[in-house]
Amino acid sequence: MTDCQGDVEGASTPMELYEKLSEQGEKVRSLKSAKADKTEVDAAVQLLLKLKMDYKQMTGQDYKAGCPPSENDAELNNGPAADGAGEDDTVDPWTVSTTNAKGVDYDKLIVRFGSSKIDQELVDRVEKVCGQKPHRFLRRGVFFSHRDMHQVLDAYEKHKSFYLYTGRGPSSEAMHVGHLIPFIFTKWLQDVFDIPLVIQLTDDEKYLWKDLTVEECHRFAIENAKDIIACGFDINKTFIFSDLDYMGSSPEFYRNVVKIQKHVTFNQVKGIFGFTDSDCIGKISFPAIQAAPSFSNSFPHVFGSRKDIQCLIPCAIDQDPYFRMTRDVAPRIGYPKPALLHSTFFPALQGAQTKMSASDANSSIFLTDTPKQIKNKINKHAFSGGKDTVEEHRKYGGNADVDVSFMYLTFFLEDDEQLEKIRQDYTSGALLTGELKKILIETLQPMIAQHQERRKQVTDELVKQFMTPRPLNFNL
Ligand code: TRP
Repeated sequence: MTDCQGDVEGASTPMELYEKLSEQGEKVRSLKSAKADKTEVDAAVQLLLKLKMDYKQMTGQDYKAGCPPSENDAELNNGPAADGAGEDDTVDPWTVSTTNAKGVDYDKLIVRFGSSKIDQELVDRVEKVCGQKPHRFLRRGVFFSHRDMHQVLDAYEKHKSFYLYTGRGPSSEAMHVGHLIPFIFTKWLQDVFDIPLVIQLTDDEKYLWKDLTVEECHRFAIENAKDIIACGFDINKTFIFSDLDYMGSSPEFYRNVVKIQKHVTFNQVKGIFGFTDSDCIGKISFPAIQAAPSFSNSFPHVFGSRKDIQCLIPCAIDQDPYFRMTRDVAPRIGYPKPALLHSTFFPALQGAQTKMSASDANSSIFLTDTPKQIKNKINKHAFSGGKDTVEEHRKYGGNADVDVSFMYLTFFLEDDEQLEKIRQDYTSGALLTGELKKILIETLQPMIAQHQERRKQVTDELVKQFMTPRPLNFNL
């Protein structure tokens, strides 16, 4: 890509490019805080991303604010260690928080994590390659960031297929609507690309991190599998596994785990995950277990001994540290790097400063909630961007950007025009908070009732079938 180099705009050394990047980062920050015009902000962010790519091309490293090129040592050390981008946002596998009512600044996260934005061009390309209207999560930026998705599509166009991998940490029986986001989207990908899928239930992870017994974690894995199956996955193309069961039964899986373990140092996982000397050794080695399903020969009953089948991982952005590590290790042990699609978080009812959490009943709408509970929780707890009185609201309008009910509708209301009309009416004051909440309640109640209906149909026998290692039906 020689034409890219011309665009580095005069920067001929890594240091000059680094300085340009710092300046551009500053510019994006100030445009955003000045609430500049959206197109202007977007243009500045695009330039920032482009500079970042140039930097990577020139130095072979990810740009890291505050770390001039010579001190930048490893591509994977751009994780939790704050780098000035999104200063107030904390995003790692255990914590998601920000002081901004609109939620985490995802553009900054892209820069911080060194991933790529899912722009309109990529959305259009997905549409062209799979021949279907893009899922609303793509149309609306719920899945907003990726790694190597263009490469996956290039190969698919040349009739080289890929497989999907996603997962869930079964920390309790209770799943909430936010937990469904990656699964709803993964099901769509499975349908439109017609490809196999593996789903990892990390009951081992939850045992290591939480105050739970091994038996409890395993039971939660099975219970959660029922909710996952209720999302409609194709039994002929889907393998769901509990780590506690599968690890011990698959020599091929374990071989990959040890290969990964040999290629990551304690120092690296400290840097990526923030482990300390007093964390148990189970935690320290766990990332290798979450990495292993990214390699096709971990599933010999599905892929035989083939190790070259590309993996695509849809996940929430907080899981990215695991896969930065995986991508760093992959070429060193002779495997392709997994590609990724990252989603935003599903906001808590109280506001987008944090994500929905199953351990706080009032912050969550559970998949087991009754229509009445759904209604009461939304009416009582959903943070509103509306004004205090009807008169003021009619006069000044509401703020959809911080309104949790509106945010939830962007996740679940299918009709783009209806959603846009709601936004306009709410912003102008024509639509009141109570009316907006009513639309959300009427969207979620049937959706959750239908989920409960489908879950009831999931028998123990069916769970067993999904969780039995077996060949899957697909053409590669
Ligand atoms: N660690 C994840 C969690 O706690 C579970 C998980 C395992 C996962 N493998 C994954 C999530 C792959 C997304 C993609 O929820």
